[in-house]
Amino acid sequence: MKDHYAVIGNPIEHSKSPLIQSYFANETQQFMDYTTLLSPLDGFEQTVRQFFQQHGKGLNVTVPFKLEAWNLCDELSDYAQQAGAVNTLFYQDDGRIYGANTDGLGIVRDLMVNNGVTLQGKRILILGAGGAVRGILQPIMQQQPEQVFIANRTAAKAEKLVEHFASFQSVISTLNGGGYEEIPLQSFDLIINGTAASLNGMLPPIPVECCQNMQCCYDMMYSDKPTPFVQWGRDNHAVLALDGLGMLIEQAAESFQLWRGIRPNTAPVFHLLRP
Ligand code: ATR
Repeated sequence: MKDHYAVIGNPIEHSKSPLIQSYFANETQQFMDYTTLLSPLDGFEQTVRQFFQQHGKGLNVTVPFKLEAWNLCDELSDYAQQAGAVNTLFYQDDGRIYGANTDGLGIVRDLMVNNGVTLQGKRILILGAGGAVRGILQPIMQQQPEQVFIANRTAAKAEKLVEHFASFQSVISTLNGGGYEEIPLQSFDLIINGTAASLNGMLPPIPVECCQNMQCCYDMMYSDKPTPFVQWGRDNHAVLALDGLGMLIEQAAESFQLWRGIRPNTAPVFHLLRP
């Protein structure tokens, strides 16, 4: 019998995960299938447990269930523990549910391996302080950037996040946060958009001083057309203006590796989705 996997969310029908994971499965010759699983908004835990009782092996978790997923795990990876959010569930042979968060590794790999962007010693501005940003902060800080500033519309949320990740302030890196008006008026090497603003076609207010020497801007959202943030990056002469498609594929590869113990090749699927 094939092993079953799925991506669970609400809504879920437009997810690209089945295409990506099925491609990985073919490429690595794994005997498995991967579908979408729509969960009622008030029935996440029940839907997950039912899936595992019916021989499901693993789930990717997407909006709006990453926090609930964190809560139902019996065991958590270090990244998931810190992030307070889980995007990968793995049903163990003993019936325990293991939760991981592969989003941070996904963005770091896309930046560093796929696009040759160095994080060590760099100045990074992160926009947003919601679940998406929580998920990526630890792997980014581990690369020892010189400075990270988290800017958020609601300043208190950015300050809370900085407090939570305070243990990552080392001799090399400094981590600060606040409202948009508190962003240091200096150039940043990398600006990451982790806000939901571009869903509404909006841009966070980024001071012009921040992008004088911008090597890369990265939108965690992705779209077939350039997102408003990617367009902003191009208009402001970012050397690289990337959206989150690469991150999506890399976080999927990390989940796949956790489940199957084999690392798929990600470049072909990127070219398939963005010819
Ligand atoms: P997610 O889990 O996807 O990060 P979230 O926790 O709701 O979702 O966080 C959304 C982020 O986008 C927050 O940082 C939010 O700012 P607030 O904390 O002030 O709400 C940010 N955001 C949403 N719409 C925005 C907009 N129009 N301009 C700037 N920031 C926006």
